[in-house]
Amino acid sequence: MHSRDIGTALVTGVSSGIGREIARLHAAHGGDLVLVARRADRLAELAAELEAAHGVRVLAVPLDLTAPDAVDDLAGTLESHGVTVDLLVNNAGFGGGGAFDGRPAGLDEAMVRLNAEVPVALSRAFLPAMRARGRGRVLNVASIVAFAPGPGMAVYAASKAFLLSFSEALSKELAGTGVTVTAFCPGLTATEFHSAAGYVEDGRTIPGGHDARTVAAAGYAAMLAGRRIAFAETTTAAASLVPRLLPRRLVTALVGTMVRRRKT
Ligand SMILES: NC(=O)c1ccc[n+]([C@@H]2O[C@H](COP(=O)([O-])OP(=O)(O)OC[C@H]3O[C@@H](n4cnc5c(N)ncnc54)[C@H](OP(=O)(O)O)[C@@H]3O)[C@@H](O)[C@H]2O)c1
Repeated sequence: MHSRDIGTALVTGVSSGIGREIARLHAAHGGDLVLVARRADRLAELAAELEAAHGVRVLAVPLDLTAPDAVDDLAGTLESHGVTVDLLVNNAGFGGGGAFDGRPAGLDEAMVRLNAEVPVALSRAFLPAMRARGRGRVLNVASIVAFAPGPGMAVYAASKAFLLSFSEALSKELAGTGVTVTAFCPGLTATEFHSAAGYVEDGRTIPGGHDARTVAAAGYAAMLAGRRIAFAETTTAAASLVPRLLPRRLVTALVGTMVRRRKT
C-alpha cells in the first residue's frame, strides 16, 4: 500500500452509516484506506467497490474493537503491511437507551470501551508518528448529545461527552504541530445506529434523520480543514448552544423529557 498526497485514512465503523460514507469520500479524493468493523462481508464489498471506482488501495481488517488487544493487533497488522496512517477517523460507536439499572450487564461497559476508550487507544497508537511527520488529521465522531447529560441514555451521552472533551484538549495540545483533531457532532442521522441501539426494528431507520452522506461530507471537510469542533447542520450547531447557555440542572431535565417523548 502506498499513500498519495492526501494520505492513508484508517476509518473505524465502515460497514454502514457515516463511516462508510467517510470512507467513500476519502477514496473519491484519491486516498488509500484501512477499513475496520466486525462484518467482514461488508468490508470486503466496500473494499472492492472503492478499489474499482477510484483505483485506491484498501486494506480491510475485520475486527471487534472492544476485544482485548484489538488495537494492538490492528497496529501490528498495519505495521506488517507497511501502512502509515495519515488520517485517523474514530467513528465506530453504538448507543442504547432506557434506565441505566434496567440495561443488560456488560453492554454499557462495551459502549464505553468502543465510544471512548478505543479512540484514546487508537490515538495513542497513531498520533506519535503523525506528530513526528508534522502532518496528520484525527476525526472523532462524537454527537450533539455530547453537550449535555442524557437521562434515558446516560452512558451513551457520557461516552460522547468524554470524546468531545478529549478531542478539544488534544486539539489544543497539538496546536502548531501540523496535526489537527476535530470533534464532529452530528444530530439525528439515518443509519443503522437506531436499529443497533434497539430503538427501531432491524432494517428500519429512525424517521427525520439527516442523510448519512451529507453528514459524512460535513465531518470529512471539517477534518481536512482542521476544525476543532464541527456540526453537520446549522440547526445542530444552534442546538449545541442551548446546553452551554442554560443551567445544567435545567438542561438535564429537558434532555430527559426529550428522550422519554422520543420513545413514546
Ligand atoms: N446516527 C445518528 O443519529 C448519530 C448521531 C450522532 C452521532 N452518531 C455517531 O456516529 C458514529 C457512526 O454511527 P452511525 O450512525 O453511522 O451508525 P451505524 O450505521 O450503526 O454504524 C456503526 C459502525 O460501527 C461499527 N461497530 C459497532 N460495534 C463495533 C465493534 N465492536 N468493533 C468495530 N466496529 C464496530 C459497525 O460495524 P459492525 O457492526 O460491522 O462492527 C458500523 O460500521 C457513531 O459513533 C455514533 O455514535 C450517530
